[in-house]
Amino acid sequence: MLQTSSLEIPALISRVRNSIVFQAICGRTFSDIELCFWRHPAGVHAEKPFMASEDEGVASRTSDPGTPVSLARMRHEYTDAGLSESELAPDWVTQFGVWLEQAIATPAIVEPNAMVLSTVDAEGRPNSRTVLLKGYDRDGLVFYTNYRSRKGVELTHNPYASLLFPWYPLHRQVIIRGRVERVERAVSEAYFRSRPRGAQLGAWASPQSEVIESREVLEAAWEQYSQRWPEGTQIPTPEHWGGHRVVPDSVEFWQGRANRLHDRLRYRRVNGEWIIERLAP
Ligand SMILES: Cc1cc2nc3c(=O)[nH]c(=O)nc-3n(C[C@H](O)[C@H](O)[C@H](O)COP(=O)(O)O)c2cc1C
Repeated sequence: MLQTSSLEIPALISRVRNSIVFQAICGRTFSDIELCFWRHPAGVHAEKPFMASEDEGVASRTSDPGTPVSLARMRHEYTDAGLSESELAPDWVTQFGVWLEQAIATPAIVEPNAMVLSTVDAEGRPNSRTVLLKGYDRDGLVFYTNYRSRKGVELTHNPYASLLFPWYPLHRQVIIRGRVERVERAVSEAYFRSRPRGAQLGAWASPQSEVIESREVLEAAWEQYSQRWPEGTQIPTPEHWGGHRVVPDSVEFWQGRANRLHDRLRYRRVNGEWIIERLAP
């Protein structure tokens, strides 16, 4: 039972802060419990900003006109149980499955299958964007996109990428690096057919990553394709649309811990064999 005497308050705050209900409301823990319940004047639930002192001006920003916020002071301590070599699954795909399921079961993680995909352009400059994981197994992780998009073109020229799952409410991230290949045509087509009609038409209507004149142009194109393939007819998969599979050669599991002594355990493929290494945080 929770004790409420003044002597127990720090412990109580710590227990409330770490409770599932609190984290479900706030999505994460704070070093100051009151921050969670501060209400933005516009009615939007937001965290109370940290007030910046004058000498912190460099790292400050303004979230609200006249409300200084100190990015330099924004931090919170992780109190999670760690990730140890002994509890790690023998292969990356099993370990990834366990963490993905836990992310899916965490209400504060809105799109648990969203991942940040980074590719590199012809000048060696990286580009990042979010895509959705649509399947994974031992062979790799699959997402779908327009092959003529910026990412599609970059992957054609340099078929290597990194994926990052930002599961902040669990104080976790997974970073995957590897070679990228296109998935089999039949697989892309099967997935395309499973998409809602509107999204199928969207794939035809959007010249992804190109500069367009206006939103109206986009909507007119969608309308045109909608008339070409009326409700009830099968929409073919565009040639320029399909899946990519990232075939990992490195998969890092990161778990936040106290005092910034986080756990980083990495599966890395060396000469066809997977090894597990611990990295300094
Ligand atoms: C939550 C979320 C999920 C997304 N999923 C995809 C996706 O699965 N495939 C895709 O092509 N774009 C997706 N996007 C849009 C991309 O982030 C990006 O804007 C688009 O693919 C163009 O990227 P590029 O110009 O770098 O090629 C998603 C965006 C968000 C915010």
